[in-house]
Amino acid sequence: MNLPRKVRIVEVGPRDGLQNEASRVPTEIKIELIHRLADAGLPAVEATAFVSPKWVPQMSDSAQVMAGLRRKPGVAYPVLVPNLQGFEAACAAGAEEVAVFGAASETFSLRNTNCSIAQSLERFAPVVKAARAHKMRVRGYISCAAGCPYEGEVKPRAVTAVAVKLYEMGCYEISLGDTIGVGTPRKIRRMIEAVAARVPVEKLAGHYHDTYGQALANIYASLELGVKTFDSSVAGLGGCPYAKGATGNVATEDVIYMLEGLGIRTGVDLTRLRQAGKFICAELGREPDSKVARALAAKDS
Ligand code: HMG
Ligand code: MG
Repeated sequence: MNLPRKVRIVEVGPRDGLQNEASRVPTEIKIELIHRLADAGLPAVEATAFVSPKWVPQMSDSAQVMAGLRRKPGVAYPVLVPNLQGFEAACAAGAEEVAVFGAASETFSLRNTNCSIAQSLERFAPVVKAARAHKMRVRGYISCAAGCPYEGEVKPRAVTAVAVKLYEMGCYEISLGDTIGVGTPRKIRRMIEAVAARVPVEKLAGHYHDTYGQALANIYASLELGVKTFDSSVAGLGGCPYAKGATGNVATEDVIYMLEGLGIRTGVDLTRLRQAGKFICAELGREPDSKVARALAAKDS
């Protein structure tokens, strides 16, 4: 087995995890969650999104979230930006890393960002250019990398085409999103193999929602292909407002447990991570959607 020795986890709970919550999560709770996640040793905590408050009301306090952050040295706090307007607002709020987000499916692109794939790439180009002029790193997301809630099957070549464009534009990493969690290891392997034929595999990240319980298996399949960065969400929070029925990202606790078991270093303290999960779940009035968190809680009690 040729698995990496070290993996980087991008925690997306405060953004992907909370964006779909129907009731408003107080800004100070979001900030506290981000602090706890950084203190648990996560090297990147996606903090918020500078998107239209009409489209995603839960992210409307993005500037206040950024203003309240106590930044930990060595930790990245990327934020989503869909266009130049979002980028400028993110800059003004002190963001140091941004992420643009496109899709491999035309219908999803339209529903999520009100534009075609080609138009989205036209919008991203000036964002990436401006970010690089500010010496900011830009991450690129591709939704529907393993299937679309509206169109169904998505071909690996459609994912590859967008990945190549984002990479050539200057994104330092391309995060491949199984937005609705329909991928299985074979599908994910084929998709990654196709993308990695055109974009170096060390520039790819796996962003797997766990709707069908396949995310850990998909991470394992990706590790075998040399992917070393994965996005996950504490307590398995989340879902996408434009992907009905999709549940959260794979739970960070579950990913860390699996990686530790494989002898792969992440730098994340599982105990502190679980506490962060308990903290936000208490606020949301629900149990963590993480098998590991539940099993360890049962063992502790
Ligand atoms: P639009 O309505 O076409 O935008 O939305 P517009 O340019 O025509 O402007 C209309 C209004 O929006 C104007 O305001 C603009 O100022 C405002 P008005 O004059 O009507 O008062 N506006 C903005 N306000 C704040 N921030 C901005 C911004 N841009 C325009 N950046 C737009 C287009 C892209 C803005 C909209 O569709 C949008 O915000 N979409 C975001 C959707 C979203 O956040 N989805 C969830 C994140 S993606 C995801 O979860 C997937 C991922 O996790 C990976 C995976 O799992 O697959 C990343
Ligand atoms: Mg997502």
